[in-house]
Amino acid sequence: MAMLNSAAGAPHARILSVGSCRGERVVDNAEMCTMIDSSDEWIQQRTGIVERRWASQDQTVVGMAADASRVAVERAGLSLDQVDAIIVATISGTRSMPSVACEVAAELGIQGAAAFDVTAACAGFCKGLSLADSLVRTGGATHVLVVGVEILSRLLDTSDRGTAFLFGDGAGACVVGPSEVPAMSPVVWGSDASQADVLTIDDSRSLAEGQPHPYIRMEGTKVFRWATTFISDRAREVLEASGLAPEELDVFIPHQANNRITDSILRHLKLPEDVVVARDIRNSGNTSAASIPLAMDELLSSGKATSGQQALLIGFGGGLAYAGQVVTLP
Ligand code: UT7
Repeated sequence: MAMLNSAAGAPHARILSVGSCRGERVVDNAEMCTMIDSSDEWIQQRTGIVERRWASQDQTVVGMAADASRVAVERAGLSLDQVDAIIVATISGTRSMPSVACEVAAELGIQGAAAFDVTAACAGFCKGLSLADSLVRTGGATHVLVVGVEILSRLLDTSDRGTAFLFGDGAGACVVGPSEVPAMSPVVWGSDASQADVLTIDDSRSLAEGQPHPYIRMEGTKVFRWATTFISDRAREVLEASGLAPEELDVFIPHQANNRITDSILRHLKLPEDVVVARDIRNSGNTSAASIPLAMDELLSSGKATSGQQALLIGFGGGLAYAGQVVTLP
């Protein structure tokens, strides 16, 4: 029988660069409290959020993803035509067809790239990274753009004081390419569909005129409990799968869901005191699929973290779904 060719690519993959684009409108807690019955003190204590960034009227999901991608591709020292796959993680594309990734390709003038979306909410970016790792190592692509992008402010029920203060808008993009040395650990991922209903974009109920439809509906306490118990254990599995000891980890970049969730996972992992911890939620809010690359870019741009350090990433949220890996920072 004739033998089929099988896929073969680079020995390893790594993140070559990161870029980001933030919502232009700064919405601080004082402004938020003109919409919901809350206080700056409550929001800060319960989440760590001081302000969030919302997209201006002119900003779009595709435009923000494209802007972040341009920065990432330039920082990788590549030209746009060297990108041969685009994976966009998002839950806020306005059309289910074409994919946001295809629209980003068109916006950037990238012809011929494999382009598709990943719908995995706050786990989407890490799932996309893992797919990019596989593509590069199996020869499906050489340079993959992985983008997390959300405009959640347009999916908010601003009368719901249990969710409205939490979410923000932004885009983060990484270029993943070939590497001679390991720079991305095996992914740990999965889902718990028995909790599919606790975090949804709900299309089933009409809201008052002027409110967006559909909109995000969240049973926050249930998600919080899952994140601080089940996800803490998964984060430990990510570290074990990477082969690193806790003291060999330099940086921790969890999905920016809530600083109290971050603190809880940190305690569980027993990481050394000097590990750099992403706290981008303070100024960005929870940006779902965009939060990890936004936080990564913030840490690197501010000098809090540096290229070559080992960072544990873990995304978790609607699905409920999760994914995580350790990466060498670009
Ligand atoms: O990114 C996707 C994954 N999402 C997450 O990981 C989010 C997970 N959940 C959370 O982060 C938290 O559940 C929230 C930050 C959303 C809410 O914090 P919480 O500590 O779970 O608050 P709660 O819903 O248990 O409410 C506690 C109290 C209640 O009052 P009583 O019953 O104790 O008197 C609420 O009525 O706080 C009250 N409350 C508020 N008070 C002021 C609820 N929302 C507000 C508010 N301002 N905005």
